[in-house]
Amino acid sequence: MKKKYLVTSALLYSNGTLHFGHLAGAYLPADCFSRAMRLEKHDVLYISGSDEYGVAITLSAEKAKKTPKEHSDLFHKENKELFEKLNFSFDHYSRTTWEGHIKPTQTFFSELLENGYIEEKVTEQLFSEEDQRFLADRYVEGICPKCGAKEARGDECIVCGASYEATDLISPKSKLTGSDLVKKPTTNWFMRFDLFKEKLTSWLSKKDWKPNVVNFVQSYIEDLKPRAITRDSDWGVKIPLENTEGKVLYVWFDAPIGYISATQEWAKLNKDPTAWERYWLDPETRLVNFIGKDNIPFHAIFFPAMCMGQNTPYKLVDDIPANEFLNLEGKQFSKSAGWTIDIHQFLKDFDVDQIRYYLAANAPETSDAEFSWKEFQTKCNTELVGKFGNLVNRTFVFSKKHCDLTVSSPSEEEDVDRNFIKDIKQLTEDYRKAVSQYRLRKAVQIFMEMCQIGNVYFDHKKPWVDAKELSSVPRMKTTIYHLLDCLRHLSIVAYPVMPKTAEKLFNMLGFKEDLLTYGFEGLNSELLPLQKLLAPEILFKKLEDDLIEKHHQELLSGSKIS
Ligand code: MF3
Ligand code: ZN
Repeated sequence: MKKKYLVTSALLYSNGTLHFGHLAGAYLPADCFSRAMRLEKHDVLYISGSDEYGVAITLSAEKAKKTPKEHSDLFHKENKELFEKLNFSFDHYSRTTWEGHIKPTQTFFSELLENGYIEEKVTEQLFSEEDQRFLADRYVEGICPKCGAKEARGDECIVCGASYEATDLISPKSKLTGSDLVKKPTTNWFMRFDLFKEKLTSWLSKKDWKPNVVNFVQSYIEDLKPRAITRDSDWGVKIPLENTEGKVLYVWFDAPIGYISATQEWAKLNKDPTAWERYWLDPETRLVNFIGKDNIPFHAIFFPAMCMGQNTPYKLVDDIPANEFLNLEGKQFSKSAGWTIDIHQFLKDFDVDQIRYYLAANAPETSDAEFSWKEFQTKCNTELVGKFGNLVNRTFVFSKKHCDLTVSSPSEEEDVDRNFIKDIKQLTEDYRKAVSQYRLRKAVQIFMEMCQIGNVYFDHKKPWVDAKELSSVPRMKTTIYHLLDCLRHLSIVAYPVMPKTAEKLFNMLGFKEDLLTYGFEGLNSELLPLQKLLAPEILFKKLEDDLIEKHHQELLSGSKIS
């Protein structure tokens, strides 16, 4: 049955450039899932964008001597382009500074307030007399109140591990200017998450999410407290109340509402302004939030509670495939430490589907994973070139030489032929199931298994021997027919992870229509039509040692950590 999917990838902070670590967690798995669901002919809307407010942006802008808006504009543009280069299939890539984001965010606040879920409270915060402003934790350092370590961070001490409020620090100072800070009372608004405990618990009890998500959520929900949803800052969505100058809504309050406003922007751009309601207000929609593990409480608890407190019945999340992290050669990706890979540079030497394949095969689904240059090379050479590329190439080269690039009907089918196609069909089903369960690694393994049994079948049937005898030419043509049918399945199954290569193969097989229109259901038709193949093209180049070595060396020499 046709379903409706609203798929999101966590909005990306626009304070830096996208790297493979981001991609592997919340982005590539979502793109592959969306593409697979489109192949299933479901109604899919895939949304993401830039998360532009909050301290992450202001701090990084200040370091770059730019205004937050200038800074964010730059990275929004950069990251949007990178996603395009990486062949992402967003229906819309939005940003939280677009004007239409303000109203829904303020409405969320106003309705929570009217419905009794928000309270006003005066607390003491650290204030810089010199700058005449309150400073957030990340701007602050001081002496650890527990162990006396110097230069302890605003929220925790990396020497003794204590966590505390910035106001507990001894001799707190501004990280930016070094000036002394004082405590000063200020008003902020707190959301009473504690009031949602029962509702959340019963809603969550029906979810069978991944163990990492469930465990996290269960312990979190035990201790729900009111949390501040406003900050003393100029950078953010204004609080919809009088006399609140210098205060804005907290970034984690506005950002998830960005999923809604992004859908509204999509609808507006499509000149169908109410189209967003078809997704957000239909209980039948399946809402899937792809995120990294650090975002779990916001998607599983805080945002659902915010929605429960609204008068509008927004769709609550159905599934949260949260992924672990991807590291680079044993360490975390870090732009400032030079420990990263420039994607523009990367795509000059490598194919987009090589990296999509490697990251999907290596997705950090149940534990942290790793990008390693050596392993990237090995996977590309032994799997993409050695198995997939090889099967495609030898089948096409053979067809050209012995069958004039035409597909002829099989005759004289043997058990080995029938079993081969039966296995290919079964693996295609297994693949569809794995993808729908967000098991991308498994899906990629199934794809490779299909390539593998294709090669085994080729070797076993030895069409080159049959080609020599006129009497066995029909047997040879039967073999090639089945190999081409296997490639037809592979072209569809390859599409979620390697869309460009999949389309290329689909065209090489002589199909004129759009691959997505064909979809998984196209594979139900028994036979390949008697069509003319295109001349073979190489799908993937072998990655030579010196090229890999060059890139690996660049990483090592560019890095500021040893
Ligand atoms: N920008 C946040 C991060 O990178 C994620 C925001 S997700 C959203 O950690 F739900 F708030 F949009
Ligand atoms: Zn300490």
